[in-house]
Amino acid sequence: MPLAGKKILLGVCGSIAAYKSAWLIRLLVKKGADVKVIMTPAAHDFITPLTLATLSKHPVLTNFSKDETGQWNNHVELGLWADVMVIAPASANTLAKMAHGICDNLLLATYLSARCPVLFAPAMDLDMWQHPSTQSNLKKLVAAGNSLIEPTHGELASGLIGTGRMGEPDEILQSVESLFTTRTLAGKKALVTAGPTYEALDPVRFIGNHSTGKMGYALAEELLRQGAVVTLVSGPTHLAAPAGVTLVKVTSAEEMYLATQKHFSQSDIIVFSAAVADYKPAHKADQKIKKGQGSMHIELVKTNDIAAELGKQKKPGQLTVGFALETENEKINAQAKLKSKNFDLIVLNSLNDTGAGFGHDTNKVTLLTAAGSQEFNLKSKKEVAADIVTAIIEYAHA
Ligand SMILES: Cc1cc2nc3c(=O)[nH]c(=O)nc-3n(C[C@H](O)[C@H](O)[C@H](O)COP(=O)(O)O)c2cc1C
Repeated sequence: MPLAGKKILLGVCGSIAAYKSAWLIRLLVKKGADVKVIMTPAAHDFITPLTLATLSKHPVLTNFSKDETGQWNNHVELGLWADVMVIAPASANTLAKMAHGICDNLLLATYLSARCPVLFAPAMDLDMWQHPSTQSNLKKLVAAGNSLIEPTHGELASGLIGTGRMGEPDEILQSVESLFTTRTLAGKKALVTAGPTYEALDPVRFIGNHSTGKMGYALAEELLRQGAVVTLVSGPTHLAAPAGVTLVKVTSAEEMYLATQKHFSQSDIIVFSAAVADYKPAHKADQKIKKGQGSMHIELVKTNDIAAELGKQKKPGQLTVGFALETENEKINAQAKLKSKNFDLIVLNSLNDTGAGFGHDTNKVTLLTAAGSQEFNLKSKKEVAADIVTAIIEYAHA
């Protein structure tokens, strides 16, 4: 229980996502944390102090002065009290003020007074998020040592679709916990491949697959959380790389092979979670292929099998993890792949399981080693990533 007895200040700003703060408080309190909430005046329009005070078991603070007696809420004391300050949701307005040292409410004065780590989880509409002012404020805040919990892509309160949704409370909880967790993989280098590959047919068309990269990105984040230095070789995705991970963007299987090979020999842990094309067009047309009269045949040739090729170069002390997405004879096929690709561990997911595989935020996996297998329930991909990394750590120490 890394959060037991930890003092957490939660700042809540004026955003629709403020309803998620209630759940976040619940999660933190269940983990044994002592949570005090500071709301901006605008946040009162979105969620009641009564809800947040009840869940946090402390009066919610908003104003400097308590009443006409002259008693006041001491922002300096609050800032020194906290082991960590979390601002979630962080509005564009508050981020701008934080970046410029503006101090016109209790939350901002406490932020300026805090000596503890500060995490902030922005929530806003996609255009507000993309605006150069917001982006420049974010850079300033991260450069000043604050930790950004990236907003995610999806449907926003406005009905628009894009990046700006506040990270889910369980993700924020994980980020807070990681501050107080021993970093078992400190000093280790990890290499993760993620996402699909696109194999070009002509300048505008490609053969691809439905991989979103979510599992690989979650693994990169979890390995980082455990202290590893992480390189993420990613095919085309809509995801933002976790802060602190070195991202290498690639498009084709060939590019992924070259980038992975470059980093392979110096990596201790290598996770092959990308959905790499097995075949690519034998020729890429220089110009857009025109529609003809009859049917069309495309000659396909094999791509490099990245995991198999690099599996041959594996040195003692290196640990490789593969993925098997199967539709039939799942365990038998996964065991065969474990051996043929020289993996230490293979993560099996079956398309027969509802909520598993491509595109979902959840996954249901079975982990196999030469010694046996372990089945897990359907969980969020972040939780699955934590299970896989725990298995990696256990395997390395066995
Ligand atoms: C319905 C509604 C939803 C809003 N949602 C957001 C939001 O998600 N993110 C944001 O940055 N501002 C949002 N705003 C604007 C802020 O509430 C406004 O900028 C406010 O001044 C923020 O104050 P604060 O930063 O002190 O909390 C919203 C406003 C309204 C009326």
